[in-house]
This record gives sequence, structure tokens and C-alpha cells, in this order.
Amino acid sequence: MAVLSTAGNAATMTKDTARRHRTSFTRRNFLKGLGALSATVSAGGLTFPVLADGTEAAAIPAEYRASLVLRVNDSVHRLQVPNRATLLDVLRDELGLTGAKPACSEGHCGACTVLVDRQPVYSCSQLAVLIEGRDVLTVEGLEKNGKLDPVQQAFIDADAMQCGYCIPGQIMSARALLDANPSPGTDEVRKAMCGNICRCGAYMNILKAVTGGRQDG
Ligand code: FES
Ligand code: FES
Repeated sequence: MAVLSTAGNAATMTKDTARRHRTSFTRRNFLKGLGALSATVSAGGLTFPVLADGTEAAAIPAEYRASLVLRVNDSVHRLQVPNRATLLDVLRDELGLTGAKPACSEGHCGACTVLVDRQPVYSCSQLAVLIEGRDVLTVEGLEKNGKLDPVQQAFIDADAMQCGYCIPGQIMSARALLDANPSPGTDEVRKAMCGNICRCGAYMNILKAVTGGRQDG
């Protein structure tokens, strides 16, 4: 009973607190909005910075930006990026490497997979500033001297794709697996690549590409 009544009081307090916050938030926002409007007008023009999270980098104040040295596909890049930029943002928007794909942007699907120090990571879920000094490999870095990586060729030979959107991520996960174990069984492939979703359901041919056609489990 005491527990119930405490819970009831807490609920009431929470409602009151929420109401107070809602009221002051609205008033404060209104006043802030007026201030922002006059600042914009006095600046002589309207600006529409794109935020959350299509932020225009130029609109971010210097204190929220970081200098960064990134090593990607054996090239070193010196960059100024928003502190909150993900590795995927930087690869695609700053370096023009669009092989890693945005899909869920929440670490669920694997479309954005790249290798960091030869390990597969979801680049949508890594802050770029935390990757400094590490070695990033994207699907664009697999081809050498005009020759596709054997994993890329295996995907083509096995016709392991439909729309193709998930395939760069699938290939990077497969590359990491084959680096660690050049001859994995089907169960090992399934386990290593379970973080890469293919919405077209091309799994059978992806499995064939990565195992080289072996069916042992
Ligand atoms: S886009 Fe990164 S895991 Fe889905
Ligand atoms: S081939 Fe279309 S999502 Fe995998």
C-alpha cells in the first residue's frame, strides 16, 4: 500500500513537474524565437541551417568542430568535422566514398559496414573523432591496380545480389571473415555475417559467394 501511495505521489509530482516544464519551455522558446528572428533580420537575410542530422558543416560553430587525421584506404586525410559527425558522414560527405550505405542509421542492418583495423564496424554508429589514428578500409579500397578483390569477384560470380544496396557492407564483413579464416564453413559464415541484413533476401547466393560454394552445414 505504501509502495502504491509513494508511486501515486511520484506520478503526481511527475505530472506537475512536466506541466511546469512545458509552460516555461513554451514561454522561453517564444522569447528565444523573437531574439533569433531579430538577429536574423539585423544580419540582413534569412538563413536556414539544416540540423539533425543533415547539418550543414559550415553552420556549426568552431567550438563544436574537431580537427581530425583519418587514414582511409591507405590515404591520409586532414579534416575539420563536426564533433558529432559519424564515420559514415565523413566517408560519404567529406571524402566522397559512397560505397558504405546509410540505411537504418541505428546499428541494426550492416549496410554501412567498413573495416577499422581489419574489424567490421557499423560506420553509422561510430563517431569519426574516435577513429583517429586507426586504419579504415572501405569497399572502394578493396580493388588493387584495376583488379577486383577476390571477394568482390566471388559475389559477381555467384550472382550474390539483387538491388545491391546491402552488398558493399556484406562484402566488407565477408572480407574480415576470410582474412581471419580463409576457408569458413557455412555455419561460420552465417554467424559472422548475421549483422548484415539483405532486404532482397539474396542470402543463399551470398553464402555461396563467401564459402566458395561449399555446403557443409
Ligand atoms: S545504416 Fe548502419 S547499421 Fe544500418
Ligand atoms: S541485394 Fe537488395 S538489400 Fe541485399
